[in-house]
Amino acid sequence: MAPKIRPSMPIQLASAAQLPPHADSVFLLPAGAQELPAALADLHEAARRYVADQLATDSKLITVNHYSHRHYFVVASGKGSAHLIAEAMRKSGHQLHALLKADKVTELYVQDLTEAADGHLALALAEGVYLSAYQFEGYKTDEKSKAPAALTRVLLTAPASDEAIQALENVLRGVCLARDLINAPLNKLNATQFAERMAEAGDEAGYQTEIFDLPRIEALRMGGLLAVNLGSPEPPTFTIMEWKPENARNSKPYVLVGKGVVFDTGGLSLKPTPGSMDIMKCDMSGGAAVTGVLYALAKNKVPVHVIGLVPATDNRPGGMAYVPGDVLTMYSGLTVEVLNTDAEGRLILADALAFAKKYEPELVFDIATLTGAAARAIGKEGLVAMGTADDEQMLALKQAGQRVHERIVEFPLWDEYAEHIKSDIADINNLGKGEAGAISAGKFLERFIEGTPWVHLDIAGPAYLTAPDSYRGKGGTGTSVRLLYDFLVNQK
Ligand code: BES
Ligand code: MN
Ligand code: ZN
Repeated sequence: MAPKIRPSMPIQLASAAQLPPHADSVFLLPAGAQELPAALADLHEAARRYVADQLATDSKLITVNHYSHRHYFVVASGKGSAHLIAEAMRKSGHQLHALLKADKVTELYVQDLTEAADGHLALALAEGVYLSAYQFEGYKTDEKSKAPAALTRVLLTAPASDEAIQALENVLRGVCLARDLINAPLNKLNATQFAERMAEAGDEAGYQTEIFDLPRIEALRMGGLLAVNLGSPEPPTFTIMEWKPENARNSKPYVLVGKGVVFDTGGLSLKPTPGSMDIMKCDMSGGAAVTGVLYALAKNKVPVHVIGLVPATDNRPGGMAYVPGDVLTMYSGLTVEVLNTDAEGRLILADALAFAKKYEPELVFDIATLTGAAARAIGKEGLVAMGTADDEQMLALKQAGQRVHERIVEFPLWDEYAEHIKSDIADINNLGKGEAGAISAGKFLERFIEGTPWVHLDIAGPAYLTAPDSYRGKGGTGTSVRLLYDFLVNQK
């Protein structure tokens, strides 16, 4: 068996009954705080005055040495809505993490003095620290060359409940699992290894996994997945993950479909722009996100029935590779004229979406690094969404996006865009026109999930960052894990 990815070492979140007298601690102060609360009476006078002076200059992050250890103070302020204040806390968590690293803090206590009802601001702060502590160094052999992972534990006191803390930790582990999978290159994570990793995560978390191999995929006639795989020396996989708790609130399942292109060269329509192939190990970010969501749902025993589907292959120009002009018969029976082999994602997703129908789902999501057009339209700042789900479901998704700060921009699927994917010789083509590329990709997918409420998430912008951005870090971000978990947990 090929060597496994060495998983990144996650930190731990835990609850603490109270703050020990000598501990590295961060105190979350309410917005507009002028001085320290009386509860911190043991802090010496000079330190109190220093903090008060800093607060007066509107400082948001203050450090004080308290005997042998550190006290940090974070002010819970931020412009606008509660969601934006929570996001400011995640970002403060990132800045705080930099200080913790410099100060070699191994264990941090968090005390919420804001009187936020359920400690959600302290949880957001801890979330920012946790996600900033993620480091992917899976293939370094020299322990000394690794950045010292000082921080191992973050402990929160009331009002954050033990339950909320554990639930948050499991979601963040799901995010880091997705990041680990995305950051693994093709020669460590081909389609088969990806499927094995999904099954391993299921064994740990408690969801069921079934993996279809090449003969099974051939028998099912998944023409899109098979065509994309033709140029590869390695077989495709189709993985089904299922979390079906006995106490599920929904009778019809939610189905999450994730794009699992473990590397995208573009195939024979080889990626033309210099550098555009360099990050294409990230082209399975959608599949990684689906894995992370299933992991978190199962770990937290969330009472919602959810199925994940991940078609996986690399897209390469090898000997038998599919060529421009080929006409494919898809799993659904529709025919597709291939005009560009680099528009491969929609081909493998189309088969999975058509397969999803057999579950008679409540709602289907697909998550995919699908188009450069989506990334150009809104950048790494948000997710492009479109679909046929009703207004209420779309609104619920957008609200989840606000809560976790993975914001949604909805693009239209107007009838007129169907023109873009017309073919002279087949039912549709896979390329679209020069403009509205994210939408024509959505219109293409729509043909394979007709009659079922569906949302398509194009995450090509935020899935992978080449420069660090606060707690999202550098490399795979794990985008959509927190979003979809939040959406599903809040379904009635
Ligand atoms: N995987 C790419 C899209 C992508 C671009 C992901 C940038 C992440 C960052 C996708 O398979 C692709 O190649 N799309 C083409 C489609 C085109 C040929 C219609 C694109 O966007 O150029
Ligand atoms: Mn491509
Ligand atoms: Zn791709």
